[in-house]
Amino acid sequence: MCVLVLNLQNENIHFFPIPKRPLSEILDEPQYHTFCLDPDACYNGQLTIDISSDNMLGAGGFKTAHPGWLTLFAAPDSGLGSCPREKVAVKRPFHKIFPPGSSKAPGKYVIRQYAAADELPKLFREANVLYWAGPLLEFAYDYIDHCIARSTDPPPFTIPRLHFVKAGLTLSYSQAPSDPNQKSKGCSPRAGFLLEELIGDDDGRNFIKYIHNMDCNPLLDVDEFGYDIATFLACTQHIQYVKTGGLAFISDYQGDAEILTDPQVLTHPQGKDIFGDGNIEVKVSTFQTKHVCNDYCTWSGFGLERLPAGSAEEPEASQ
Ligand SMILES: Nc1ncnc2c1ncn2[C@@H]1O[C@H](COP(=O)(O)OP(=O)(O)O)[C@@H](O)[C@H]1O
Ligand SMILES: [Mg+2]
Ligand SMILES: [Zn+2]
Repeated sequence: MCVLVLNLQNENIHFFPIPKRPLSEILDEPQYHTFCLDPDACYNGQLTIDISSDNMLGAGGFKTAHPGWLTLFAAPDSGLGSCPREKVAVKRPFHKIFPPGSSKAPGKYVIRQYAAADELPKLFREANVLYWAGPLLEFAYDYIDHCIARSTDPPPFTIPRLHFVKAGLTLSYSQAPSDPNQKSKGCSPRAGFLLEELIGDDDGRNFIKYIHNMDCNPLLDVDEFGYDIATFLACTQHIQYVKTGGLAFISDYQGDAEILTDPQVLTHPQGKDIFGDGNIEVKVSTFQTKHVCNDYCTWSGFGLERLPAGSAEEPEASQ
């Protein structure tokens, strides 16, 4: 049972950090294709969540984010939860309940959480997409750094440096469980949470949506803060798309000027199996015609073919 004091909810948890692995390792090793709960990489701890709506960090169309504090017993040396009472974003999927007879107007709904059996698969999907997105972004940076090191002239721009949030999946139990294998002994979690390092300031005001899901170009106007980063991120999509041989690229880029979260990974239908269990959105086929090359893409040192290619040619294979 969780303990509620004022608007603070206390949970006994098992925390499973989302590991960071190079893309090549994830692709080569079948056991790394999907993020799974590894009892050997599990931490017991306590999570306090500020569930008041006034202090909410935000809500999108799918998840709520509340501030919380994570304390892990036998904490890891680095990563999320390495400090006691670390402030985190606590995320849960939700569905909307509209009052009977009301129109489905935005804002006119009540937020309802799913039952654990429905919530956990959704959280796994979110965690798995984050698990893939970090390495896909690193893969683009490796290509960028490699091209810059090889070029005789440096690029006429500074490369924005961003990364995905440190995150982990948390299962909450009625009583403090000492053994992460309890799951297999019949003790099922009563709730799940996705925990992430905090982005921006405490009230999430610096949170920017750079590129929308299913769109390949910046959401922002030229004069808006973040436009340059959005343009750079569009270039990383071009690199990911071409250098994975059209297999996958990151969509729905959002966060602040350094940390990103809540991505989608769009994949070619033939690449679906490697992501396991229908975890990832499908549809990359329009990328070649929708993406518009920008100043980052067209720097000669990157050696990228200009898009929209306007041809049905397959992208080049990975190097
Ligand atoms: N790590 C974070 N730190 C601070 N605020 C966050 C964080 N992640 C998300 N938010 C806020 O919560 C909102 C909803 O989170 P998000 O993961 O984008 O959910 P959805 O899947 O519904 O789009 C975001 O729009 C943002 O305002
Ligand atoms: Mg979002
Ligand atoms: Zn481009």
